Amino acid sequence: MPTIHLADIELALTDCGAGRPVVLVHGFPMDQSIWSQQVETLARQYRVIAPDLRGFGRSSVTPGKVTVEQWADDLAALLDALEIHEPIVLGGLSMGGYVAFRFFQAHRSRLAGLILCDTKAAADTPQAAAGRLETARRVECEGCQFLSDTMLPRLLAPATLESKPEVVDRLRQIILAGDPAGYAATSRGLAERPNFTPLLPQIDCPTLLIVGRQDAISTVAEMNAMSRAIPASRIVEIDNAGHVTPMEAPVEVTAAMEQFLTEVTKPEIRNTKSETNSSTK
Ligand code: MLT
Repeated sequence: MPTIHLADIELALTDCGAGRPVVLVHGFPMDQSIWSQQVETLARQYRVIAPDLRGFGRSSVTPGKVTVEQWADDLAALLDALEIHEPIVLGGLSMGGYVAFRFFQAHRSRLAGLILCDTKAAADTPQAAAGRLETARRVECEGCQFLSDTMLPRLLAPATLESKPEVVDRLRQIILAGDPAGYAATSRGLAERPNFTPLLPQIDCPTLLIVGRQDAISTVAEMNAMSRAIPASRIVEIDNAGHVTPMEAPVEVTAAMEQFLTEVTKPEIRNTKSETNSSTK
């Protein structure tokens, strides 16, 4: 996997295909390989870039605390390093969605569209933020095993846990391969992330929301509320999937993304709320 040198880090990434750039950002505690099936298909028509964020996968780890502001600026620096100046479609799963919200705030002119998978706009409650600090402490002391043990049952739908052992195993391997210092720095940063809810009505680019119907972390109700708040958006609900839809339902997620990307590249059919804010059942 190639790496790109940014100011203070090396960023590992997949970069393949040609056409409008589509950048896909993974969740926590994961890496860019959660998007492997989307990358494979979308790269037939688009330039697809899936980085390991700072602190994850094969990218550099900067210990202490890493914030959504830092990751969004890393993405902008990555685009500069790749000499990508045209607007991108930015997709993010969960934590990747938090990064996408911040990227919209800080780098709006670089965006042609957003894909928000299984994410939320609200900040952590004080209780959730305290839990993050405890996670940071534990992962530094104990390593990654407890994260995999505690998170897998929440990340994946019951149907996935029961009938897709290869997906469960792959996600477990991804979690266990992470760097405890990267996970700890992320947990501290996520505990402080801002509330992006007031931003939602200002999102003025075409936006696709995707949610697994069994998502226990970013619920269907929460994501539908986000879709209602974002002017040019629509939501696709995916059956038999939890929080990691790109891995749990790759065919359905890729199809939804392909459809949206076609719309984004045909401006005459976008931005009509009556057309775009329907749920796909
Ligand atoms: C993720 O999948 O990125 C996490 O669930 C995000 C979070 O912990 O808030």
